[in-house]
Amino acid sequence: MRIKTLSVVLIGAMALFTAFYWLTDASRREATYNAQLKELVAYGQELFGPPTATNLNTANCAKCHGADGMGGEVPNLGGRRAPNLHSKSIYEKLKAQAGGAWTEIRKPGDPPDYVNLVIRYGGVVVSGDVHSPMPAWSIEAGGSLTINQIDALTALVETWVLEASKQPDVQVPNTVEAGQTVFTSTSDCAGCHGADLAGVGQFPNLQNIGNAPVTELPFPISQLDKLKADYAKDPGAFLEAWIRDSSANYNDGAPTQMPPHPQASLSDSALQALITFLLAQKQ
Ligand code: HEC
Ligand code: HEC
Repeated sequence: MRIKTLSVVLIGAMALFTAFYWLTDASRREATYNAQLKELVAYGQELFGPPTATNLNTANCAKCHGADGMGGEVPNLGGRRAPNLHSKSIYEKLKAQAGGAWTEIRKPGDPPDYVNLVIRYGGVVVSGDVHSPMPAWSIEAGGSLTINQIDALTALVETWVLEASKQPDVQVPNTVEAGQTVFTSTSDCAGCHGADLAGVGQFPNLQNIGNAPVTELPFPISQLDKLKADYAKDPGAFLEAWIRDSSANYNDGAPTQMPPHPQASLSDSALQALITFLLAQKQ
């Protein structure tokens, strides 16, 4: 009888403990995951640079992307810029890759996603340009970083991207000044066309885009006649179509070396201000 009571009590206690464990397990797992993620991001931040007296051994992504990852000039490349990594356009790419929703920062061991692939294999993943200034970092691709280090940098960049994705779009006033700010800092235009619009390297000069389209294109397109006709009819509408997706609208879908700018990375109001600014560029 006493043994029976004892076993009932024991089984009851075990059941209670199991239920308690089961109920708190999810939050315990989440706490562990958050702690690991925090560590991973801190390691990524160390690798991102810039180097300091106590932290010499970094990949120094900061050299191009800026210490805080907000974008910066690539050294010795005539004004070419490296993009801001706190970016809704990276968010859009991750979302498209995930098939509609992207809410979770990639964990080590997960299959490589867009950010992880760019860091592994370099700018060719971004733009198809094999001469992109963004290096390939993984050792297998000739770089200097291990897969673990690239995982940490991925977690850092995706933390920034997730934060950026939650920022509301600001309404940009439709003025030349506001458009200039979009051109030089909010969007990526100055990275290739230069803050003075003179064009960096082979990227075209836009200083006369308010008078005429660029027809001597560095990468010939299949629909040049349509481009000329559209500009003649309505320069603003042409610029909108070109900036949103030059490849789809003027090159039968083949890449033009100018990335598309969908609504998610360039809001309608920012685009309108940008067009107002571009149409004011006359030589
Ligand atoms: C020498 C300059 C340079 C360095 C160093 C550099 N980047 Fe880049 N990065 C670029 C440029 C330029 C691009 C744009 C690529 C293009 O258009 O071809 C880019 C693109 C990217 C992108 C994609 C951005 C997008 O909008 O799709 C990510 C992510 C990135 N870099 C992360 C890093 C990380 C992490 C490091 C350090 C391990 C790093 N970069 C080091 C120049 C650099
Ligand atoms: C990665 C480099 C890159 C970025 C970033 C970029 N462009 Fe371009 N852009 C190009 C290239 C390359 C061409 C020429 C395409 C060709 O030769 O087929 C071009 C052409 C143009 C033209 C000329 C179209 C014509 O024929 O008249 C305009 C206008 C333009 N870009 C505006 C912009 C604006 C505005 C932004 C930012 C929202 C931007 N670009 C961002 C590379 C870039």
